[in-house]
Amino acid sequence: MESTTIAVISGASRGLGFALASELLASGATVITLARGSNAALGAVADEHGSRVQQLQADLSQASSIEAAAGLMSAALPAGASRYLLINNAGTVDPVSLADGLFDAASIERAFNLNVAATMVLTAAFLRSAPPEADRRIVNISSGAGRLPTRGWGVYCATKAAMDHYTRVLSEENPGLRVASLAPGVVDTAMQEHIRGSSNHDFPELDRFLQLHEKGQLPSPEAVARKILRHVASEAFGRELLDDIRNYD
Ligand SMILES: NC(=O)c1ccc[n+]([C@@H]2O[C@H](COP(=O)([O-])OP(=O)(O)OC[C@H]3O[C@@H](n4cnc5c(N)ncnc54)[C@H](OP(=O)(O)O)[C@@H]3O)[C@@H](O)[C@H]2O)c1
Repeated sequence: MESTTIAVISGASRGLGFALASELLASGATVITLARGSNAALGAVADEHGSRVQQLQADLSQASSIEAAAGLMSAALPAGASRYLLINNAGTVDPVSLADGLFDAASIERAFNLNVAATMVLTAAFLRSAPPEADRRIVNISSGAGRLPTRGWGVYCATKAAMDHYTRVLSEENPGLRVASLAPGVVDTAMQEHIRGSSNHDFPELDRFLQLHEKGQLPSPEAVARKILRHVASEAFGRELLDDIRNYD
């Protein structure tokens, strides 16, 4: 059978997810994306390379939309490919606040829905829909913040730590599945711009992020996406459940 890849990527309307989707489309993969917005540039990349993209629009911070999106994703997943790849990439750093300011339960709930619940529900749909005899791989885009306490990021750190530990359970339950919770390192995206707009009071680490930008030390999403996809396609992928792309060339 000809080697074919079907990839599902959340949060591909911009940033790292967009770069991952573009790279996969350029390699001939069929790509299904999920985000609130869509990006016409993905259609153009698909046209240029004779590949196919389907952009599903969903607000993954809302429980009912997550469930509906998972159903749409399952229905859209073509049969018969040799490899199925799910990249749980959509995420938010908000709400940014010290612990004594985290009163807005609704915004905390939205963060946990997007960063954690959507990852779990899309994974469940993927496990049920992608044929088990195919090469199935799942990448959960985590963060160093899930492993290193960062002042002002109580919610973000907790969601990424939850994603990391969930990945361990997923692997324990599915011995044949290649899965990793992968920190991408800092990436020059809208999320970094948003972080630089935080207040010093809410985010005492602000200066470190301003410096990274000033010194031109933020890698492009394209460079990070290429590194991630090279690793995901390799034999090494999944050996380390909690991994960091900066550990690879
Ligand atoms: N950038 C970094 O330095 C960095 C570092 C470590 C980890 N990460 C992780 O890398 C991943 C990608 O981050 P990024 O930097 O590319 O962020 P970004 O530029 O802010 O892009 C986030 C993506 O998530 C989608 N998204 C946000 N809210 C959503 C919602 N409610 N429903 C559905 N989709 C939603 C956005 O699409 P819509 O707005 O169209 O919905 C967008 O496509 C995240 O999980 C982040 O935590 C990033």
